[in-house]
Amino acid sequence: MLILGIESSCDETAAALVVDGERIRSSVVASQISTHEKFGGVVPELASREHLRAIQPVVEQACRQAEVRLHDVDAIAVTEGPGLIGSLLVGLVFGKALALSMNKPLIGVNHLEGHIHAVLLENKMDRCAGRTAVEARLPAVALVVSGGHTSLFLVTHSAEGANPNSGRFDYAQLGHTRDDAAGEAFDKVAKLLALGYPGGPVIDNISRFGDPYAVDFGTIKMKGNPRDFSFSGLKTAVLYRVRGTDLDREAEQRRAWRKTVERPTLDELRSHCSQTTIDLVASFQQAVVLDLVERTWGAAEDARVDNIFVSGGVACNSLLRHRFATRCKGFQVFFPSPALSTDNAAMIAAAGYYKLLAGERAGVSLTAHASLPLGSKQSVVTSV
Ligand code: KG4
Ligand code: ZN
Repeated sequence: MLILGIESSCDETAAALVVDGERIRSSVVASQISTHEKFGGVVPELASREHLRAIQPVVEQACRQAEVRLHDVDAIAVTEGPGLIGSLLVGLVFGKALALSMNKPLIGVNHLEGHIHAVLLENKMDRCAGRTAVEARLPAVALVVSGGHTSLFLVTHSAEGANPNSGRFDYAQLGHTRDDAAGEAFDKVAKLLALGYPGGPVIDNISRFGDPYAVDFGTIKMKGNPRDFSFSGLKTAVLYRVRGTDLDREAEQRRAWRKTVERPTLDELRSHCSQTTIDLVASFQQAVVLDLVERTWGAAEDARVDNIFVSGGVACNSLLRHRFATRCKGFQVFFPSPALSTDNAAMIAAAGYYKLLAGERAGVSLTAHASLPLGSKQSVVTSV
C-alpha cells in the first residue's frame, strides 16, 4: 500500500510517500523558518500563505523523489488537526481534492497520532535495516513534546490480544500542558534573550557551554493530575531574572547585532553572549528536561509498561535524550531521528496506513479542527 501523506498543521509544508507504514520512499519538508524568524514565532496568516505557495511543488517533489506518479498512490492521508486552522485547511483541502479527483480513499489523521507513529515507523525501518533488534512494542507511554503540544498518552492495541497488525490503536491521554508547550517555552525564552528562532535548537546548542546548576529554578509543582505540565511559570521566572538587569541590556545589543547578520554561527552567537546568559539558558533547559522526564517516568511506572516513546520537535533535544537514557534504565526508550521528530508527512502517511487497514475512510465532509483531542482522557489520582 503506497500512501501519500500531507502535513500542514503549523509552519512546515510536507508531503511523503510511505509503503505499508514501514518504508519511506520520499519525505519532503518545506520549512517556513525564514518567513517567521524575524517575528520570533509563527505568524498564522503568513503560514497559510506560505502553505498555499508550497503545497503543490512539495507534493510533486515527493512523487519525483519516490519515482511514482500520483495515480500509483493507493490512498491519501492528511492532517485534520490540531493546529493552526488556516494552515491545516491548505493541506486538507489539497488532499481532499486529490482524493476526489483520482477516486482514491482519503484518511484524516490527528497530528499527535502522527508523532506517535513516527516512533513505530522509524523502529520498523531500523529493524529492517539491521540497525536495531529491539522492537518498539505496545502498550507504551508516549510523550509528544513540540512547539504546540506537550502531552502524555498510554498507547495500546485496541482489543486485548488483537493482531498488532490490525491497525487499531487506542490512545488514552494521561496528561497535557495547562499553559505553554515545552517547545513554546524554549522559543519564548530564546526570543526574550534575542537568541534566534526556533529557540529549541539554539538553546540546546548554546547550553553545552553553560552551567545547568547556575540557577536553581526548583521543580515544577502541579496541583491535581501529576501527569500534567506547566511551563509558563518557568518562562516567567526567566523573564524576572532578565528584566531590568544587565542581561536585558545585553539582549538588546544582541537583537541589534542580529539584524546585521543573516544567520550567525553558534560560535558567533556565543561570542555575543555573556557566561551569565549561557548559564541561565542551560539552567532553564535543565528544568524543562527534568520535568518532562520525571513526569513521563512516573506515568510509565504507574501504567506498568516497558516501552516509552518520545516524539515531537523537542525530542531532538540532546539533554532530553541523555536524561531519558540515564533516568529510565528499566525501560526501552524510543526516539525518532531528528528528521522524523519534527513535523513531517511520513508520520502522517504511516498513521494513515493503519487507519486504512482498520477500514477508516474520510468522506467529503472531512474538515480541519484547530483543537482535536486524541483518544480518551484518563483520570490519574496518584501524586508525585
Ligand atoms: O514538532 P515540531 O516540528 O512542530 C510542532 O508540532 O510544534 O516542533 C517544533 C518545536 C519548536 O518549538 C522548536 O523550538 C522545538 O520543537 N525544538 C527543540 C529542539 N529542536 C526543535 N526544542 C528543544 N531542543 C531541540 N533540539
Ligand atoms: Zn508536531
